[in-house]
Amino acid sequence: MSPLLRNRVAKRVLSPALALIERRIEQQVKRSTQSLQSDLDALKQQVATLKSPQYGLSLLVDSTGRSGHRMPTAAQIDTLARQIQGVADGSDHALRNVTVAYRTVIALESLGVGRLAGSTSNVCGKLATVPLLAPPNGNVLEIGTLYGMFAAGLMRMLHRSGVEPNLTIVDPLAGSQLQPGTVSEYKDPTGTPVREDVVRANLALGGVGTVIDARIQQGFSGDDEVRDAVSDREYGVIIVDGDHSMDGVKADLEWVEKIVAPGGIVVLDDYGDKAWPGVQDALDKHLAAGTSRLTMLGRVSTSAYLRAG
Ligand SMILES: C[S@@+](CC[C@H](N)C(=O)[O-])C[C@H]1O[C@@H](n2cnc3c(N)ncnc32)[C@H](O)[C@@H]1O
Repeated sequence: MSPLLRNRVAKRVLSPALALIERRIEQQVKRSTQSLQSDLDALKQQVATLKSPQYGLSLLVDSTGRSGHRMPTAAQIDTLARQIQGVADGSDHALRNVTVAYRTVIALESLGVGRLAGSTSNVCGKLATVPLLAPPNGNVLEIGTLYGMFAAGLMRMLHRSGVEPNLTIVDPLAGSQLQPGTVSEYKDPTGTPVREDVVRANLALGGVGTVIDARIQQGFSGDDEVRDAVSDREYGVIIVDGDHSMDGVKADLEWVEKIVAPGGIVVLDDYGDKAWPGVQDALDKHLAAGTSRLTMLGRVSTSAYLRAG
């Protein structure tokens, strides 16, 4: 404190002036606080206004009732398009197909019954890549369909590329998803049963029943009667997504070798997915034996792409 303010006479003389200064400072602080508070309130209002339409949009793409959210980042889509180019000979249409595939996924899960299985990158990768690999014919076999929603999307994507596809599905359609080594009481996030009527409802969204034909063979891909029923043609595209155990994938690959058309495309889902190590083990061993008709084209997200000789 200055010596002047320690002097009692000076203190008494200066006291009214000091009180006035103190009041002015208090008033100034009060005014600033009030203005800061009203700026903050306005900002809060603006954030709330911005957030409310986004909340509605987020309901269209969040993870409720499906495998995961459908909100890819720009970097993820970029990576996907580059991976597709790596498998599809540098195609100029990778990004276009990924974009169209993404719209198809949102539309199918909005209107369909059940869900698509897998991450957004993996599902969009499969839908976008297969048409770019120019399959030699429109015969498509899906081993393991769950709700049939992926098959519906693939029909749309192939049709868009000029292919007139027809579809064969093999799945036990036993009420719930069957997977060796997993709990049988697994509750699907959709609450929807795995049944033929559900698959048919979803296939209708892909144009099946109008211009596209489909047949559903209920049973396991290893069953003799199932194999006999669907081994009547050479397939231009085969999606292997049924039994994910090493033995199951091995058996499917051996069968696929016999029914895939020359130049046909085989997609092995969940290759490299840590949740299903048997898938990669089975394909790596199958190819290492050196007797396969299949050549690895590469990997997009968690699917392997092969072409038959
Ligand atoms: C991962 S889901 C298929 C997902 C579907 N492809 C999709 O992309 O949405 C696996 C399906 O294969 C079925 N499955 C299990 N073992 C099978 C087998 N040996 N043959 C055919 N389907 C099988 C399961 O019951 C389930 O419906």
